[in-house]
Amino acid sequence: MGRDVPGGPSPSLGANVPLSAPSSGRLSRMAHAASLRALAAQGISFLALAFLLRFMPWPMPPHGAAWLDGLVAASLVFAWRLPFWWWVISLLFPPLVAAAAAWHVRSAWFGGLFLVSLLLYWSAWRGQIPLFLSSRRVCRLLKAQLPKDQALAFADLGSGLGGVLLGMARLVPDGAYTGVENAPLLYAASRLRLALQGARSCRVLRQSFWAHRLTDYDVVYAYLSPVPMKALWEKACAEMRPGTLFVSNSFAVPDAEWSLRVPILDWTGSVLYLYRIATRH
Ligand SMILES: C[S@@+](CC[C@H](N)C(=O)[O-])C[C@H]1O[C@@H](n2cnc3c(N)ncnc32)[C@H](O)[C@@H]1O
Repeated sequence: MGRDVPGGPSPSLGANVPLSAPSSGRLSRMAHAASLRALAAQGISFLALAFLLRFMPWPMPPHGAAWLDGLVAASLVFAWRLPFWWWVISLLFPPLVAAAAAWHVRSAWFGGLFLVSLLLYWSAWRGQIPLFLSSRRVCRLLKAQLPKDQALAFADLGSGLGGVLLGMARLVPDGAYTGVENAPLLYAASRLRLALQGARSCRVLRQSFWAHRLTDYDVVYAYLSPVPMKALWEKACAEMRPGTLFVSNSFAVPDAEWSLRVPILDWTGSVLYLYRIATRH
């Protein structure tokens, strides 16, 4: 493995050694299987409850039935050893549906909420990459790892609200900053934010980062999820120039050796993994 740095600058970074890695496709399939199981648990518990209510000699109040429905679904999810948040979702989903029906919540609200979630999360379902934002310290730590007195071409893959681009542009004014974001609402919000702040050295592209070539960047930053890391690393190795930096916030590339690991020392307790792109043979 490479060097650990206690949140400070590093004098030099060693070469990385990409090794064979477990399939990120498998991780993605596992995540999909979890959501399908949670859905199956809801279906089974609903059918079981409908059967029970049909033959029960006394009536059950709707909210009681909804909680029982949720309890059965959550028990199934627990028995299938799905992650903790699936128990919570499975338990609360039927009572929330019952409450919405009891309060006569207009269906337009659900449609509206669905649309906003779609524009916000876009490919989160397929790509297994949710939205969360880098903390402010990240830019300062990144700056400490950059070569001094050199114009910088920097990309944030999945740039969210553009905070990393703005932070880097403030700290290293002599640079060009590109965000690549495919969620329409985030793209629009970050364009507006950059325009309002007059950040001329920053741009955001509405594109999937898989379709964006990394050839021109000195530093590529990603804060995504464990799922795409192996494939993204392969893309970085194929497209980035030798000696340039690939940085992942929190999610290490499976079985590849980082050049440097820098703790962010914020409330998330996360870590930056820095990989120096090796010379191609
Ligand atoms: C964890 S957030 C990171 C946001 C930002 N980079 C930061 O550090 O504050 C991941 C972002 O990647 C975006 N994203 C996910 N898949 C993407 C893809 N294939 N192409 C472009 N952006 C993507 C999501 O919409 C989300 O905004």
